[in-house]
Amino acid sequence: MYMSSSQKPPGSAVPGKKSGKTPRKTRSDPVRRRRFLQRCLGVLGGIGSLMAAYPLIRYIEPPPEAEGSSRVEIDRASVPPGTARTVIYRGRPTIVVNTSDGYIAFNAVCPHLGCVVKWEGGTRSLVCPCHGGKFGTDGSVQGGPIPAPLTAVELSVTDDKIIIGA
Ligand code: FES
Repeated sequence: MYMSSSQKPPGSAVPGKKSGKTPRKTRSDPVRRRRFLQRCLGVLGGIGSLMAAYPLIRYIEPPPEAEGSSRVEIDRASVPPGTARTVIYRGRPTIVVNTSDGYIAFNAVCPHLGCVVKWEGGTRSLVCPCHGGKFGTDGSVQGGPIPAPLTAVELSVTDDKIIIGA
């Protein structure tokens, strides 16, 4: 028996013939999902890199000089002969040393890459832990890759106090 095309039974579509509808891309399209995940990973990787770099940048970059007190007082007893103490003066670490010649103070930020220098009583010198820089008690460069001497900080001494920034 003859059937016209309008009388086809359901499910008997002719192969290769368009049905008139454009196939829709679904949300589970693997290429789109892969691109989306790659972008998400890129953004997360960027955020992670910034978070990892922040402490390093803060370590290298000392705080602005404008912050902090312009005058710091400490007890003389807190810096016995041959020792040093680091205080924050004008927002920067400042090292006060009690040498046999009296008290001295320097901005403790190393002029090389900004690490904080320490007092080494055995050698009577200020040393930088980052790259082995070494300074004399007058702040002069005595070794290492340091481009400039330490900056001296003014101080005065009373009977029982050391006044930094006096
Ligand atoms: S940061 Fe001090 S020697 Fe490099």
